[in-house]
Amino acid sequence: MRRLIIAIDGPVGSGKSTVARRVAELLGSTYLDSGAMYRALAWKALQRSVPLDDPPRLEALAADTRIDLEAGRDGLHVRLDGRDVTSAIRTPEVSEGASRVAVVPGVRRLMVAEQQRAGRRGGVVMEGRDIGTVVFPRADLKIYLDASVEVRAERRLRELQGRGESISLEQMQEDVRERDRRDKSREASPLIRAPDAVLVDNSAMDVEETARLLALLARQKKGDRGQVAGGRKSSHRKTVLQRKQLRRGPTAKRKNRKPKSRGRRRK
Ligand code: DC
Repeated sequence: MRRLIIAIDGPVGSGKSTVARRVAELLGSTYLDSGAMYRALAWKALQRSVPLDDPPRLEALAADTRIDLEAGRDGLHVRLDGRDVTSAIRTPEVSEGASRVAVVPGVRRLMVAEQQRAGRRGGVVMEGRDIGTVVFPRADLKIYLDASVEVRAERRLRELQGRGESISLEQMQEDVRERDRRDKSREASPLIRAPDAVLVDNSAMDVEETARLLALLARQKKGDRGQVAGGRKSSHRKTVLQRKQLRRGPTAKRKNRKPKSRGRRRK
């Protein structure tokens, strides 16, 4: 059976990463975190003191950077020019930087090309902001994951606290709103829900519930696609039959009836 491309988009704190990772696990697919690529580039820019408001330099930096997403036993590893930066790119400073490098159209072009290369064979669950709209506009299943600002800020807060960082809930809500604003209002590939994306609001759902729902939708799609694939064949066959019938037209039916009546008459 064909291997699906599943696109999960949504704002910060919607649980995309955890949910996408779990969906990939449930489906036996590869999990790809597109945001990690913007984060890795931001990390490199910060290391090299490349100003985050200098698009030509950021684009040149992106062109001179190799970012690999590798599925390891303990999760996805992010390699930047061969160096493992998996944990280094998860700081608030890098989060802020990533959302700034992500507004640069030239940077996005390079990242999108890499993401398309990584997922083109299917069997992937890719999450980000523009996966269903730009990276894979023909993805088999598109999900737009969302939750209220309050819930998303709380989730982010817990995540940071888990890493020993402290920030107030009010500050976090402010950060979430600011990142939403930047992600949704940028000119290049703003965060928007693709018209054919399924909206899933998981404010009142945990990761496992959300992931199982998405896996169910994916399996349904896979079933549909199976039928469509077979359907394509059978509809093709139907078309051929229909064409034959059309060619023979009503006369064919008459011809079929004639021998019967002739037989009866002979009796
Ligand atoms: O999902 P995340 O927080 O790791 O993403 C980091 C930043 O990268 C975030 O500000 C949005 C941006 N991003 C994007 O613009 N397009 C994507 N496909 C993924 C992330």
